Amino acid sequence: MRRTQGDEVAVRTAGPDDAPALDGMLRLLTPTSSFMRFLVGFGEPKPGLVRALLATGPRRGALLAVLPGGTAVGHACWSVDDAGAVDVGVVVVDGWQRMGLGRRLVGTSLGHARDVGAVTLHLDVHPMNRGLLATLRRRLPTARHAFADGLVGIDVALADLFSPAVRAGGTPPRRSARTDDRASR
Ligand SMILES: CC(C)(COP(=O)(O)OP(=O)(O)OC[C@H]1O[C@@H](n2cnc3c(N)ncnc32)[C@H](O)[C@@H]1OP(=O)(O)O)[C@@H](O)C(=O)NCCC(=O)NCCS
Repeated sequence: MRRTQGDEVAVRTAGPDDAPALDGMLRLLTPTSSFMRFLVGFGEPKPGLVRALLATGPRRGALLAVLPGGTAVGHACWSVDDAGAVDVGVVVVDGWQRMGLGRRLVGTSLGHARDVGAVTLHLDVHPMNRGLLATLRRRLPTARHAFADGLVGIDVALADLFSPAVRAGGTPPRRSARTDDRASR
């Protein structure tokens, strides 16, 4: 049932016009999810933060997971540095977690990033985010994990992520031409 609900959610690119939707979504996060994503506690989402999370450019972008009525329940943003490393930040509203939305948001982000030259993925995960770390270890067996500045930094080659062997383990394939990349699930 809940998995079916997740299937009704569209993942689409986002931009500055989506500030009200993202602001509303951030207000729905529990303190734990908010902390795991932003690594600080915040009450009211600051307009500057919302703007930054929706910034777009040649080597960066944002995505929202939206319900048919337009309510946002997930967000991801990505940026590619000069070394070709894509950094992805992702959060899903608590009641919509564990339905595949995080995976779709990350998979779609990686497809866009790869299109503009990304070759590796970098993630920073709080060490208390143990469930997610365990999942990442299982899903990304070739990733390097390094503890730095109080966070677990995870680096993995996109070629490994998109390889058929790893995909068979569930990592999303390259995005299709569609904006709502169901192919990324
Ligand atoms: C992490 C997060 C984005 C995942 O989104 P989601 O929609 O719940 O994830 P999905 O349903 O797509 O699941 C993806 C995989 O991660 C696993 N997973 C997700 N959250 C998990 C958790 N808290 N503990 C253990 N595994 C978890 C799922 O079981 C799934 O694994 P599988 O493919 O082997 O079944 C979401 O839980 C979240 O917003 N958490 C708070 C913020 C956060 O931690 N952001 C990431 C910072 S790096």
